[in-house]
Amino acid sequence: MKTIKMRTRRQIPQVGLGVYKSEPGPTTRNAVLAALEAGYRHIDTAMIYNNEPDVGEAIKASGVDRSEVFVTTKLWNDDHGYDNTLAAFDRSISQLGLDYVDLYLIHWPVPVLRLDTWRALERLTLDGRVRDIGVSNYLATHINEILEYAPVVPAVNQIELSPYLYRTRLDTIELCREIGIVVEAYSPLTKGRKLDDAVLAGIGNAHGKSAAQVLIRWAIQHDFVVLPKSVNPDRIAQNCAVFDFSLTDDEMTRLDSLDEGLVTGWDPADVA
Ligand SMILES: NC(=O)c1ccc[n+]([C@@H]2O[C@H](COP(=O)([O-])OP(=O)(O)OC[C@H]3O[C@@H](n4cnc5c(N)ncnc54)[C@H](OP(=O)(O)O)[C@@H]3O)[C@@H](O)[C@H]2O)c1
Repeated sequence: MKTIKMRTRRQIPQVGLGVYKSEPGPTTRNAVLAALEAGYRHIDTAMIYNNEPDVGEAIKASGVDRSEVFVTTKLWNDDHGYDNTLAAFDRSISQLGLDYVDLYLIHWPVPVLRLDTWRALERLTLDGRVRDIGVSNYLATHINEILEYAPVVPAVNQIELSPYLYRTRLDTIELCREIGIVVEAYSPLTKGRKLDDAVLAGIGNAHGKSAAQVLIRWAIQHDFVVLPKSVNPDRIAQNCAVFDFSLTDDEMTRLDSLDEGLVTGWDPADVA
């Protein structure tokens, strides 16, 4: 699996399995096992997904060495504040059953408390149970606040991104690039909403690839980490079979121009 180097010099695998809305229990365990079998080395979970235990169990059951798998989890909105964050992290790592997580993210830029929360994440890196820390759903304004007040710069910013929500987010993407924050694309398949788009089918046909693979490849060629979710073993395998073709410059430009500000989840644009 291809990796990207973070500002901390550690590597992050470019395609990760997302497990949002992946049912706790066998569904998530089997999805993670199928992903590791297919060659994924990166799993993206969160406290609020309720499936941290399944992610940890599947990694152990897979036989793949822990050191080869990049595991991300996220702090939920109710747990902001310095002490609450430290306690929430203890719960997450114990649910995962792991000695450390590779990446711990603030899930959402909760007003007022988020700087104290960031300080707690900085603290967590000191005892080795968290390798890297970052943020999610942070737009340029939220990132600038961290740059102004905190000594540690996030390694990663995980935001919703697809060709249908790209130019709208360019200022955030460009700020991240400028200061070396890796951008992760969540809901890269638009939660399935645009998979029937004729533009994707046309480009996919030219390469013998599906619409989903075109969307994932688009994210890769923009140097994003990309986090497709599936619980179906065939689609899980398909979603990482994206390193044997390239989109042309013209195809990338056509995809970039599909932006319509499509937000499929929550929109941080109004968060002060
Ligand atoms: N930080 C945040 O606030 C945040 C928010 C949202 C998501 N995320 C992360 O990003 C990940 C992905 O986003 P998402 O779960 O919202 O949606 P997504 O990956 O854009 O789309 C998932 C949907 O596409 C289907 N699908 C997957 N592969 C397919 C393929 N090859 N062909 C056809 N359909 C396919 C899945 O169904 P099947 O499962 O049945 O295959 C599911 O319905 C999440 O799981 C999570 O890790 C983070």
